[in-house]
Amino acid sequence: MEHLYITDVAPRDGLQNQPVHLDASTKLQLAQLLAKAGVRSIEATSFVSPKAVPQMADAAELLPLIRAALPDLRTSVLVPNLKGLERAHAAGATEVAVVLSATETMNRKNINMGLDQATEVSEQTLAEAHRLGLRTRAYVAVAFDCPFEGETPLDEVLRLAHRMQRAGAGEIVIADTIGSASPGMVKQRMGALAEAIALDQLAIHLHDTRGMAVANAWAALEVGVRRFDASVGGIGGCPFAPGAAGNVATEDLVLMAERSGFATGISLDGLLDTVDFAQVQLQRPLGGRAITWLRRQREKRNS
Ligand code: COA
Ligand code: ZN
Repeated sequence: MEHLYITDVAPRDGLQNQPVHLDASTKLQLAQLLAKAGVRSIEATSFVSPKAVPQMADAAELLPLIRAALPDLRTSVLVPNLKGLERAHAAGATEVAVVLSATETMNRKNINMGLDQATEVSEQTLAEAHRLGLRTRAYVAVAFDCPFEGETPLDEVLRLAHRMQRAGAGEIVIADTIGSASPGMVKQRMGALAEAIALDQLAIHLHDTRGMAVANAWAALEVGVRRFDASVGGIGGCPFAPGAAGNVATEDLVLMAERSGFATGISLDGLLDTVDFAQVQLQRPLGGRAITWLRRQREKRNS
């Protein structure tokens, strides 16, 4: 059976935007539940300015807790610059992700740099991470549409993805940051990217703002993409991209993949336990499109 590789980004993308701020021990419990559900890879936190994202201010405390409790879990952390990399390395990071948006305005809003500077800083950060022996990912954000500049030119996405690849990024993550992509766009863009980037180095990061994330994931699968970011319970969204809803829910993606003959290694019951935990902690109902049906199946099995 063909395998689909999922990185659960709930601890970072999911929590960075929540009105309720979780403490490090609660975030550790979230990571433990994900690992128990069979998730093999997470994005744990970000080493960004605590003024920009207070929800991630405990990164240096959290990462060593996760590394110690879950040494076999692949754990990536987001770093926007060399200072972030330095802090992540000091906290024991083994994998880092840089974030380059494909438009001038989005870079300015997100990391206070123009596109050229953001590209150079991402390249320098990747080079330094490589020197330190860390695994790397590079996000190309707003790769479909930008909330400030409209549709992002595909050529620009290809150019930046190449730059990140040449800079040594182990994985290039194409992000639909505001969840505006359609299956047709995904097929076209991921198809073009797959011609230039090996499929084991190419990932897609979808948001579900318009209810099309699972359809978009299927379009990516059809052009050969096998690496996906997702967030348990569908929590998430970028605080600097207005109107963005949560990520594609991990449980929706797993259900779709397993029903279509792909193996994920992830248990839906385990994901439901994680959603239950997260919604108590975040004090609001969570879950992807299939959550009601999934809960009903679990009740039937348990009765
Ligand atoms: N982690 C923590 N602090 C950082 C930092 C990092 N990675 N990079 C810079 N800083 C600190 C500087 O030391 C300085 O601190 P001081 O005011 O105490 O002297 C302050 O932040 C300003 O530094 P500067 O280099 O001028 O940064 P900036 O104000 O232009 O902000 C970023 C740039 C990248 C740090 C900031 O925009 C940021 O953290 N963005 C996060 C974006 C994000 O997480 N988006 C969601 C995920 S895509
Ligand atoms: Zn995102």
